[in-house]
Amino acid sequence: MLEVRNLHSFYGDAHVLHGVSLEVNSGEVVALLGRNGMGKTTLIRSIMRLAQPQVREGSLLWNGEELMHLTPHEVASRRIGLVPQGRRLFPSLSVVEHLTMLKPASAKHGWTVSRVLDMFPRLAERKNHRGNQLSGGERQMLAVGRALMIDPELILMDEPSEGLAPVMVQHLETIIADLGRTGLAILLVEQNLYSALAVANRFYVLETGKVVHAATAAEIKENQASLLRFLGVH
Ligand SMILES: Nc1ncnc2c1ncn2[C@@H]1O[C@H](COP(=O)(O)OP(=O)(O)OP(=O)(O)O)[C@@H](O)[C@H]1O
Ligand SMILES: [Mg+2]
Repeated sequence: MLEVRNLHSFYGDAHVLHGVSLEVNSGEVVALLGRNGMGKTTLIRSIMRLAQPQVREGSLLWNGEELMHLTPHEVASRRIGLVPQGRRLFPSLSVVEHLTMLKPASAKHGWTVSRVLDMFPRLAERKNHRGNQLSGGERQMLAVGRALMIDPELILMDEPSEGLAPVMVQHLETIIADLGRTGLAILLVEQNLYSALAVANRFYVLETGKVVHAATAAEIKENQASLLRFLGVH
């Protein structure tokens, strides 16, 4: 369903992605692993067609349609949601305002404010709180909820567990696994290997802008050592 082929992305003259290819199929949770600065966020931003980085070569096929010439808004309207690294909420907008600011083209999968608030009871209790009044965990829930409100078939999540307490990380893992079971596809950027192992069906390791390893959950169960080696964990 998402097919990234030979993607080359740049910031100015800096060539950051060197021919990345990967795919995410319907209902799969796919983890994108890699150490700091390896190009994970660059890949997510390239897929969303954000102004930076510049993609100079390659192809981004989404259900057969080329995304390369679309705007970020048009990408979102194709039901690709984004949970950006660092959450990117608005400090002065309330929880409910965050959830109602983007209107889906049509509510195919039935995501509504009340369904999102049912999923995140903590947010329901704080629905009139502003972005800057929420804890780190609540902000991450809201960032996920906001992405669901565009009624996605694929969500790109960029390090959602970053900076969260272990109990919130576990809660998030449950949510990601539950969303995966509803048929939603998720491309999950993670530095937390154990979080990724808990939820993902397949794995890619990115190193200096190249995919250096790809494996299924079953393959990793058999042989975790090779994955750890590619991540530089000993
Ligand atoms: N706006 C930018 N302008 C110039 N270079 C950038 C910019 N953003 C990222 N880079 C560079 O591109 C490379 C990849 O960065 P990227 O943010 O994609 O890494 P990452 O894998 O997401 O890292 P992290 O795990 O720390 O979030 C790094 O060398 C980084 O310094
Ligand atoms: Mg990043």
